[in-house]
Amino acid sequence: MDDIILRAEKITKIYPGTVALDEVNFNIYRGKVNALIGENGAGKSTLMKILAGVEQYTDGTLLLNGKEIAPKSPREAESLGIGIIYQELNLFPNLSVSENIHMAHEITRGGMVIKHGEQEKRAAGLLARLEQPINPRTLVANLRIGQQQIVEIAKALSQEMQILIMDEPTSALSTSEVEILFRVIQELKAQGVSIVYISHKLDELLQIADYVTVLRDGELVAESPMEKVNLRWIVQSMVGHDTAVSYTPPKHDFGEEILRVENLTLERPGKVQAYLLDHVSFSLRAGEIVGIYGLMGAGRTELFETLMGLHPHAGGEIWLAGQKVEMKAAINQRIQTGMMLIPEDRQREGLVQTLSVSHNMLLASLRNYLARFYLSSAKEKANVDRLIKELAIKVSNPQNLISSLSGGNQQKVVVAKALLTSPKLLLMDEPTRGIDVGAKAEIFSIMSELAKRGLGIIFVSTELKEVMAMADRILVMAKGRITAEMSRLEATEQALVEASVIGHELIKTGV
Ligand SMILES: Nc1ncnc2c1ncn2[C@@H]1O[C@H](COP(=O)(O)OP(=O)(O)O)[C@@H](O)[C@H]1O
Ligand SMILES: [Mg+2]
Repeated sequence: MDDIILRAEKITKIYPGTVALDEVNFNIYRGKVNALIGENGAGKSTLMKILAGVEQYTDGTLLLNGKEIAPKSPREAESLGIGIIYQELNLFPNLSVSENIHMAHEITRGGMVIKHGEQEKRAAGLLARLEQPINPRTLVANLRIGQQQIVEIAKALSQEMQILIMDEPTSALSTSEVEILFRVIQELKAQGVSIVYISHKLDELLQIADYVTVLRDGELVAESPMEKVNLRWIVQSMVGHDTAVSYTPPKHDFGEEILRVENLTLERPGKVQAYLLDHVSFSLRAGEIVGIYGLMGAGRTELFETLMGLHPHAGGEIWLAGQKVEMKAAINQRIQTGMMLIPEDRQREGLVQTLSVSHNMLLASLRNYLARFYLSSAKEKANVDRLIKELAIKVSNPQNLISSLSGGNQQKVVVAKALLTSPKLLLMDEPTRGIDVGAKAEIFSIMSELAKRGLGIIFVSTELKEVMAMADRILVMAKGRITAEMSRLEATEQALVEASVIGHELIKTGV
């Protein structure tokens, strides 16, 4: 049995009218990643705020290394070695990255004068550890949400805590940023730091958690070492019962078949009889939105890459609007025939940060203008203005640098860029990752609108609820195969998760 650094015993928290926590027991194992999971409102953040001194419990006991504690403020929790990365961003937008990282922990000369130079050097070091070359003097207001989340993480790292709580730290991060965070978590573990990790992304938990505790409606449901449980157990504990979605899909008719994929295969390099894509077949009609759900490594990315022509050696057949697409056809040929991909990591692949909004939009479609309109700048301008209006992109002037826009508006520019190529089929990789709730809703309504105009849309998401809300039809992938297909009305969380773990080594006997 591993050593317990912090034990919460029968913690109850009552807010006026709500029992947020009802006699909850929670253990934090020393030097381990302790995952805390549960649906929205289960009480996860409340429990963590109590440990971090932000809130005080109504009843119960907290034991740190066997000694009772009752932190009355974040300051007091920090002095006990407990730090937290909050779910809501907690930064001062009008201060610099460095000032935020050192807030309430300034490096001073004689306790009076802040040594900005020294702070900036230290901030730069922390950001380098997180592989984010942000200038420490940048105002936080000028960072996109994902970068602000990284500054929160840097701030927490700067204080060398023995317990570090991370409340949904990856909600705004891209896949590559998540990988960097996971590497840092491994380093912290190796240094003996105990981590509490809250996330509703099940594939993240599989990757990093050592222990898992489940809360439901303010009550402890179960605690277990990760290796003793499987995904099915986690989902069942979280959800309690199976829930069907209650959305009414907006009614619109589908048109002709726009995409047909038959027996698409991609071999795993170096392995015989091992497939990254294992005989994938499906079709999509104009006006239809298909969501692909699957865990990391299911083959979602490879499917999009193969459709876009990045794997000329793939096997199988693809038809776009009735026309056969040769496997050897390169990406620009595929764009010309009407396929377009909106990549997940828009900072890296989707946008050129040093160009203006207008330039970024025109990047992919310049070929179109050259061929058809001899690069008419009037035409360009009209199209850019039209899309800024149609997609409600908040920018005062299209000549402004793309980096001055919020994450949600940058994502809309990526969509605009794709639309200027006049696609018939739009592939969207995690279209709402790293943008705020309001912008998510806007991206959803843009997707519906595009489908209504006859585009076929395939999107990939690791967020169950998003897939269930947005897709007319859902395909589940696991281990390179399509393991289930269901309409939005048939889909349940349980069925989706079950199909996503078919063939996974992690399916062990339940607890
Ligand atoms: N400051 C507060 N005042 C009143 N109720 C609150 C407050 N904070 C949280 N709650 C309630 O407590 C419950 C647990 O919330 P929370 O801990 O944020 O859940 P989770 O983080 O698991 O989504 C919810 O019903 C929420 O509405
Ligand atoms: Mg929460």
